[in-house]
Amino acid sequence: MTLAEKQATNVAVAATGPKFIIVIQQKGGAGKSTITVNLAAASGRSSVMQNDIEDAAVVAAGIDPQGSLEGWADQVPEEALPFDYLVTRGKVGILSELRDNPSRKRVIVDTPGFMEIDPDAAWGDDPLGESRVADALREVLELADLAIVPITPEWLSWAPAEFTIERILKPRGIPFIVVINLHDPRDGDTALDKVKTWIDQRSYPRMADPIRKYKIHAHAAEDGLTVVEYKESGTALRAREDLMNLALCVEQAL
Ligand SMILES: Nc1ncnc2c1ncn2[C@@H]1O[C@H](COP(=O)(O)OP(=O)(O)OP(=O)(O)O)[C@@H](O)[C@H]1O
Ligand SMILES: [Mg+2]
Repeated sequence: MTLAEKQATNVAVAATGPKFIIVIQQKGGAGKSTITVNLAAASGRSSVMQNDIEDAAVVAAGIDPQGSLEGWADQVPEEALPFDYLVTRGKVGILSELRDNPSRKRVIVDTPGFMEIDPDAAWGDDPLGESRVADALREVLELADLAIVPITPEWLSWAPAEFTIERILKPRGIPFIVVINLHDPRDGDTALDKVKTWIDQRSYPRMADPIRKYKIHAHAAEDGLTVVEYKESGTALRAREDLMNLALCVEQAL
């Protein structure tokens, strides 16, 4: 390939729109919203700055009709964020519009726990059912380049993770990584090893290290802070390391 051809290819790549990363897990409380906001912050902070472009390279989006990302975003002055955020409240079409914007590099989408699934749907059938949330989910699944499935050391989150992967992601051919969240470092490694074994037995790709459980994350939501803004401390650095780790892991998987 000549240099000119190489440059032409690079231009073609640069002209394409963003990669969509969706954070999805049927079980509530596994950390979808926390991961979305903080991954967007870690990733947005690492973006190449292009001063003539208004649109941030990274977008955090929420499709929850309840607007859970909105509550958090209300606490934050928008100019302080290293990413843009977008709340669709379940309206279809808004996210697809981002697809053709070459300034956008990554769109990270928070999804609601989809409670209205049809547990009796036959294998191969779409279990998402008919609802506004289901339609919004189908749109992001259509756009998704990669899914992050958070799971916790608590076994209650395991079966919903498996359902999400086997019934929602695999049939659509969406690549995914399982991410262990809410590992309490004070608990030692027993519970952590158990969940790692469970994931590995299913040959699911996973992030090597967990996202640790720190109070600072839970408080941050109230304070409208992201992981890149935590007041400097050992814990803040470890919390940030976990999310930086995830950002790297995602980039490798894309
Ligand atoms: N690594 C962590 N350390 C400490 N607290 C965490 C961590 N991850 C999530 N949390 C807390 O756990 C709770 C649930 O997290 P979050 O709201 O992100 O889950 P979710 O999957 O989005 O839930 P839902 O399905 O209800 O939208 C929140 O109070 C959040 O602050
Ligand atoms: Mg949430």
